Amino acid sequence: MDNLEKGEVKRLKRSTGAVILAHSYQPREIQEMADLVGDSLELSRFARESVAPLVILCGVRFMAETVKILSPGSVVRLVAPGADCSLAACMSGEDAGAWKREHPGAALVTYINSPVEAKAESWACCTSANAVGVVRAAPPGDVLFGPDRNLAEYAAAESGRRVIPWPGGCHAHSGADIRSLRRARAEWPDAAVLVHPETPPVFRREADAVLGTGGMIDYVAGSDRRRFIIGTEEGMVYRLSSLFPDRSFTAAGDISCRDMRNATPDMVLEALRGDDPGILIPEELAGAALKALERMTEL
Ligand code: 13P
Repeated sequence: MDNLEKGEVKRLKRSTGAVILAHSYQPREIQEMADLVGDSLELSRFARESVAPLVILCGVRFMAETVKILSPGSVVRLVAPGADCSLAACMSGEDAGAWKREHPGAALVTYINSPVEAKAESWACCTSANAVGVVRAAPPGDVLFGPDRNLAEYAAAESGRRVIPWPGGCHAHSGADIRSLRRARAEWPDAAVLVHPETPPVFRREADAVLGTGGMIDYVAGSDRRRFIIGTEEGMVYRLSSLFPDRSFTAAGDISCRDMRNATPDMVLEALRGDDPGILIPEELAGAALKALERMTEL
Protein backbone atom coordinates (compact mmCIF):
# COMPACT_ATOMS: atom_id res chain seq x y z
CA MET A 1 0.00 0.00 0.00
CA ASP A 2 1.62 3.29 -1.06
CA ASN A 3 1.48 6.56 0.88
CA LEU A 4 -1.41 7.87 -1.22
CA GLU A 5 -3.54 4.83 -0.33
CA LYS A 6 -2.51 5.02 3.33
CA GLY A 7 -3.66 8.65 3.32
CA GLU A 8 -6.94 7.55 1.74
CA VAL A 9 -7.50 4.97 4.50
CA LYS A 10 -6.94 7.68 7.13
CA ARG A 11 -9.27 10.10 5.37
CA LEU A 12 -12.03 7.48 5.01
CA LYS A 13 -11.68 6.44 8.63
CA ARG A 14 -12.10 10.05 9.71
CA SER A 15 -15.09 10.72 7.47
CA THR A 16 -16.93 7.45 8.31
CA GLY A 17 -15.90 7.06 11.96
CA ALA A 18 -14.75 3.53 11.11
CA VAL A 19 -12.58 1.33 13.28
CA ILE A 20 -10.51 -1.51 11.84
CA LEU A 21 -10.46 -4.65 13.98
CA ALA A 22 -8.12 -7.54 13.21
CA HIS A 23 -7.66 -10.97 14.73
CA SER A 24 -4.09 -11.88 15.68
CA TYR A 25 -4.02 -14.47 12.87
CA GLN A 26 -4.32 -11.81 10.16
CA PRO A 27 -1.43 -11.14 7.77
CA ARG A 28 1.22 -8.64 8.87
CA GLU A 29 0.05 -5.78 6.58
CA ILE A 30 -3.45 -6.02 8.03
CA GLN A 31 -2.26 -6.11 11.64
CA GLU A 32 -0.16 -3.04 10.92
CA MET A 33 -3.15 -0.98 9.74
CA ALA A 34 -5.66 -2.12 12.40
CA ASP A 35 -6.86 0.03 15.30
CA LEU A 36 -7.15 -3.06 17.48
CA VAL A 37 -5.53 -6.47 17.06
CA GLY A 38 -6.85 -9.07 19.47
CA ASP A 39 -8.15 -12.55 20.19
CA SER A 40 -11.80 -13.54 19.79
CA LEU A 41 -12.62 -12.45 23.34
CA GLU A 42 -10.98 -9.04 23.00
CA LEU A 43 -12.79 -8.40 19.72
CA SER A 44 -16.10 -9.32 21.42
CA ARG A 45 -15.37 -7.09 24.41
CA PHE A 46 -14.53 -4.22 22.11
CA ALA A 47 -17.81 -4.72 20.24
CA ARG A 48 -19.80 -4.72 23.46
CA GLU A 49 -18.48 -1.27 24.38
CA SER A 50 -18.24 0.13 20.87
CA VAL A 51 -20.24 3.03 19.49
CA ALA A 52 -18.36 3.06 16.17
CA PRO A 53 -20.78 3.59 13.28
CA LEU A 54 -18.67 1.37 11.00
CA VAL A 55 -16.53 -1.63 11.94
CA ILE A 56 -14.22 -3.17 9.36
CA LEU A 57 -13.59 -6.70 10.56
CA CYS A 58 -10.43 -8.42 9.37
CA GLY A 59 -10.94 -12.03 10.32
CA VAL A 60 -13.55 -14.66 9.55
CA ARG A 61 -17.34 -14.56 9.33
CA PHE A 62 -18.21 -15.70 12.86
CA MET A 63 -16.13 -12.82 14.24
CA ALA A 64 -18.00 -10.27 12.13
CA GLU A 65 -21.33 -11.84 13.14
CA THR A 66 -20.35 -11.69 16.81
CA VAL A 67 -19.40 -8.02 16.54
CA LYS A 68 -22.73 -7.28 14.82
CA ILE A 69 -24.72 -9.06 17.54
CA LEU A 70 -22.86 -7.26 20.33
CA SER A 71 -22.90 -3.91 18.57
CA PRO A 72 -26.16 -3.92 16.57
CA GLY A 73 -26.00 -0.19 15.87
CA SER A 74 -22.76 -0.54 13.89
CA VAL A 75 -22.45 -1.42 10.24
CA VAL A 76 -20.05 -4.39 10.32
CA ARG A 77 -18.25 -5.31 7.12
CA LEU A 78 -16.18 -8.45 6.78
CA VAL A 79 -13.12 -7.50 4.76
CA ALA A 80 -12.83 -10.77 2.83
CA PRO A 81 -16.51 -11.69 2.35
CA GLY A 82 -15.78 -15.35 1.56
CA ALA A 83 -13.74 -15.84 4.75
CA ASP A 84 -15.63 -18.61 6.49
CA CYS A 85 -14.26 -20.64 9.39
CA SER A 86 -13.97 -24.37 8.58
CA LEU A 87 -14.63 -25.14 12.23
CA ALA A 88 -17.81 -23.04 12.41
CA ALA A 89 -19.12 -24.99 9.42
CA CYS A 90 -18.93 -28.25 11.43
CA MET A 91 -22.05 -27.56 13.51
CA SER A 92 -25.22 -25.90 12.16
CA GLY A 93 -28.09 -24.53 14.20
CA GLU A 94 -30.11 -27.61 13.22
CA ASP A 95 -27.30 -29.89 14.42
CA ALA A 96 -27.18 -28.03 17.73
CA GLY A 97 -30.97 -28.22 18.21
CA ALA A 98 -31.13 -31.95 17.41
CA TRP A 99 -28.16 -32.65 19.70
CA LYS A 100 -29.87 -30.89 22.59
CA ARG A 101 -33.02 -32.95 22.04
CA GLU A 102 -30.90 -36.13 22.23
CA HIS A 103 -29.53 -35.00 25.60
CA PRO A 104 -32.38 -33.37 27.51
CA GLY A 105 -31.10 -31.65 30.64
CA ALA A 106 -27.57 -31.12 29.32
CA ALA A 107 -26.23 -27.58 28.86
CA LEU A 108 -24.91 -26.67 25.41
CA VAL A 109 -21.72 -24.60 25.43
CA THR A 110 -20.84 -23.36 21.98
CA TYR A 111 -17.39 -22.20 21.00
CA ILE A 112 -17.52 -18.75 19.46
CA ASN A 113 -16.22 -20.34 16.23
CA SER A 114 -19.78 -21.29 15.28
CA PRO A 115 -22.66 -19.96 13.20
CA VAL A 116 -25.20 -17.58 14.79
CA GLU A 117 -27.88 -20.28 14.56
CA ALA A 118 -25.84 -22.61 16.78
CA LYS A 119 -25.12 -19.82 19.27
CA ALA A 120 -28.86 -19.14 19.44
CA GLU A 121 -29.42 -22.75 20.66
CA SER A 122 -26.78 -22.45 23.40
CA TRP A 123 -26.75 -21.99 27.13
CA ALA A 124 -23.53 -19.99 26.73
CA CYS A 125 -20.76 -19.29 24.27
CA CYS A 126 -17.07 -19.36 25.04
CA THR A 127 -13.75 -18.56 23.42
CA SER A 128 -10.49 -20.43 23.86
CA ALA A 129 -9.62 -17.91 26.59
CA ASN A 130 -12.56 -18.79 28.85
CA ALA A 131 -13.76 -22.26 27.71
CA VAL A 132 -12.64 -23.95 30.94
CA GLY A 133 -14.35 -21.32 33.13
CA VAL A 134 -17.60 -21.42 31.15
CA VAL A 135 -17.74 -25.25 31.23
CA ARG A 136 -16.99 -25.20 34.95
CA ALA A 137 -19.86 -22.75 35.52
CA ALA A 138 -22.41 -24.72 33.48
CA PRO A 139 -25.50 -26.02 35.33
CA PRO A 140 -25.08 -29.45 36.98
CA GLY A 141 -25.20 -32.43 34.63
CA ASP A 142 -23.63 -33.16 31.29
CA VAL A 143 -22.16 -30.42 29.15
CA LEU A 144 -22.49 -30.61 25.38
CA PHE A 145 -19.56 -28.80 23.79
CA GLY A 146 -19.17 -27.98 20.10
CA PRO A 147 -18.02 -27.68 17.48
CA ASP A 148 -14.35 -28.30 18.42
CA ARG A 149 -13.58 -31.74 19.78
CA ASN A 150 -10.04 -30.93 20.90
CA LEU A 151 -11.10 -27.87 22.87
CA ALA A 152 -13.98 -29.88 24.37
CA GLU A 153 -11.56 -32.55 25.60
CA TYR A 154 -9.22 -29.93 27.00
CA ALA A 155 -12.06 -28.11 28.80
CA ALA A 156 -13.30 -31.44 30.22
CA ALA A 157 -9.87 -32.36 31.55
CA GLU A 158 -9.27 -28.93 33.09
CA SER A 159 -12.73 -28.42 34.57
CA GLY A 160 -13.36 -31.96 35.78
CA ARG A 161 -16.85 -31.80 34.20
CA ARG A 162 -18.39 -34.54 32.07
CA VAL A 163 -18.29 -33.07 28.60
CA ILE A 164 -19.76 -34.63 25.47
CA PRO A 165 -17.82 -33.30 22.46
CA TRP A 166 -19.19 -32.54 19.02
CA PRO A 167 -16.92 -34.24 16.46
CA GLY A 168 -15.70 -31.06 14.70
CA GLY A 169 -12.28 -29.55 14.20
CA CYS A 170 -10.36 -26.65 12.69
CA HIS A 171 -8.70 -27.75 9.44
CA ALA A 172 -5.50 -25.89 10.32
CA HIS A 173 -5.06 -26.85 13.98
CA SER A 174 -6.39 -30.41 13.85
CA GLY A 175 -4.16 -31.20 10.86
CA ALA A 176 -1.01 -30.03 12.67
CA ASP A 177 1.85 -32.52 12.47
CA ILE A 178 3.57 -33.39 15.75
CA ARG A 179 6.83 -34.19 13.91
CA SER A 180 7.18 -30.49 13.04
CA LEU A 181 6.83 -29.51 16.68
CA ARG A 182 9.45 -32.09 17.65
CA ARG A 183 11.84 -30.80 14.97
CA ALA A 184 11.40 -27.22 16.23
CA ARG A 185 12.01 -28.39 19.78
CA ALA A 186 15.19 -30.24 18.73
CA GLU A 187 16.46 -27.01 17.13
CA TRP A 188 15.46 -24.79 20.08
CA PRO A 189 15.66 -27.07 23.16
CA ASP A 190 15.56 -24.07 25.51
CA ALA A 191 12.30 -22.70 24.05
CA ALA A 192 8.90 -22.74 25.74
CA VAL A 193 6.26 -24.53 23.67
CA LEU A 194 2.85 -22.79 23.63
CA VAL A 195 -0.01 -24.51 21.84
CA HIS A 196 -3.63 -23.63 21.14
CA PRO A 197 -6.25 -25.98 22.65
CA GLU A 198 -7.61 -26.69 19.15
CA THR A 199 -4.45 -28.70 18.40
CA PRO A 200 -4.59 -32.51 18.76
CA PRO A 201 -4.05 -34.05 22.24
CA VAL A 202 -0.43 -35.04 21.48
CA PHE A 203 0.44 -31.35 21.06
CA ARG A 204 -1.07 -30.50 24.40
CA ARG A 205 0.85 -33.32 26.09
CA GLU A 206 4.18 -32.02 24.73
CA ALA A 207 3.54 -28.33 25.45
CA ASP A 208 4.70 -26.15 28.30
CA ALA A 209 1.36 -24.35 28.18
CA VAL A 210 -1.99 -24.70 26.39
CA LEU A 211 -3.38 -21.25 25.70
CA GLY A 212 -5.58 -19.15 23.45
CA THR A 213 -3.78 -16.43 21.53
CA GLY A 214 -4.40 -13.77 24.21
CA GLY A 215 -3.03 -16.17 26.84
CA MET A 216 0.10 -16.70 24.73
CA ILE A 217 0.80 -12.95 24.84
CA ASP A 218 0.38 -12.91 28.63
CA TYR A 219 2.58 -15.98 29.00
CA VAL A 220 5.46 -14.44 27.02
CA ALA A 221 5.11 -11.14 28.92
CA GLY A 222 5.54 -13.01 32.20
CA SER A 223 8.25 -15.45 31.11
CA ASP A 224 12.04 -15.30 31.47
CA ARG A 225 12.54 -17.47 28.37
CA ARG A 226 13.98 -15.91 25.24
CA ARG A 227 12.62 -18.34 22.63
CA PHE A 228 9.14 -19.70 22.02
CA ILE A 229 7.68 -22.35 19.72
CA ILE A 230 4.15 -21.38 18.77
CA GLY A 231 1.54 -24.04 18.02
CA THR A 232 -1.23 -22.04 16.43
CA GLU A 233 -2.01 -20.18 13.20
CA GLU A 234 1.15 -18.68 11.72
CA GLY A 235 -0.11 -15.05 11.94
CA MET A 236 0.46 -15.32 15.68
CA VAL A 237 4.21 -15.61 15.16
CA TYR A 238 4.17 -12.14 13.60
CA ARG A 239 1.88 -10.79 16.34
CA LEU A 240 4.21 -12.00 19.10
CA SER A 241 7.35 -10.85 17.24
CA SER A 242 5.89 -7.34 16.88
CA LEU A 243 4.94 -7.16 20.57
CA PHE A 244 8.21 -8.67 21.88
CA PRO A 245 11.01 -7.66 19.49
CA ASP A 246 13.68 -8.82 21.98
CA ARG A 247 12.39 -12.45 21.97
CA SER A 248 12.40 -15.07 19.21
CA PHE A 249 9.43 -17.03 17.94
CA THR A 250 9.04 -19.87 15.52
CA ALA A 251 6.03 -21.84 14.31
CA ALA A 252 5.48 -25.40 15.52
CA GLY A 253 4.83 -26.46 11.94
CA ASP A 254 2.61 -25.47 9.11
CA ILE A 255 -0.60 -24.29 10.79
CA SER A 256 -2.09 -21.92 8.30
CA CYS A 257 -5.73 -20.89 7.95
CA ARG A 258 -6.56 -20.12 4.34
CA ASP A 259 -9.54 -17.99 5.35
CA MET A 260 -7.49 -15.85 7.72
CA ARG A 261 -4.77 -15.22 5.19
CA ASN A 262 -6.70 -13.82 2.23
CA ALA A 263 -7.37 -10.26 3.44
CA THR A 264 -5.33 -7.52 1.76
CA PRO A 265 -4.95 -3.78 2.47
CA ASP A 266 -6.78 -3.08 -0.82
CA MET A 267 -9.76 -5.02 0.49
CA VAL A 268 -9.74 -2.86 3.62
CA LEU A 269 -9.78 0.25 1.44
CA GLU A 270 -12.63 -1.22 -0.59
CA ALA A 271 -14.63 -2.03 2.57
CA LEU A 272 -14.15 1.52 3.86
CA ARG A 273 -15.37 3.01 0.58
CA GLY A 274 -18.45 0.93 -0.13
CA ASP A 275 -22.04 1.47 0.96
CA ASP A 276 -22.54 -2.22 1.65
CA PRO A 277 -24.83 -2.66 4.69
CA GLY A 278 -22.51 -5.45 5.90
CA ILE A 279 -23.55 -8.34 8.12
CA LEU A 280 -27.32 -8.56 8.63
CA ILE A 281 -28.87 -10.96 11.15
CA PRO A 282 -32.61 -11.40 11.72
CA GLU A 283 -33.55 -9.72 15.00
CA GLU A 284 -34.98 -12.77 16.79
CA LEU A 285 -31.95 -14.91 15.92
CA ALA A 286 -29.54 -12.17 16.99
CA GLY A 287 -31.44 -11.81 20.28
CA ALA A 288 -31.15 -15.52 21.09
CA ALA A 289 -27.43 -15.58 20.22
CA LEU A 290 -26.89 -12.42 22.26
CA LYS A 291 -28.14 -14.19 25.39
CA ALA A 292 -25.48 -16.91 24.99
CA LEU A 293 -22.77 -14.32 24.28
CA GLU A 294 -23.81 -12.20 27.25
CA ARG A 295 -23.69 -15.19 29.55
CA MET A 296 -20.11 -15.72 28.40
CA THR A 297 -19.14 -12.13 29.09
CA GLU A 298 -20.90 -12.17 32.49
CA LEU A 299 -19.06 -15.35 33.48
P1 13P B 1 -8.60 -17.18 20.08
O1 13P B 1 -8.90 -15.92 19.38
O2 13P B 1 -9.61 -17.47 21.16
O3 13P B 1 -7.21 -17.27 20.58
O4 13P B 1 -8.77 -18.39 19.05
C1 13P B 1 -8.66 -18.14 17.75
C2 13P B 1 -9.28 -19.12 16.86
O5 13P B 1 -10.23 -18.84 16.18
C3 13P B 1 -8.71 -20.41 16.77
O6 13P B 1 -9.16 -21.04 15.60
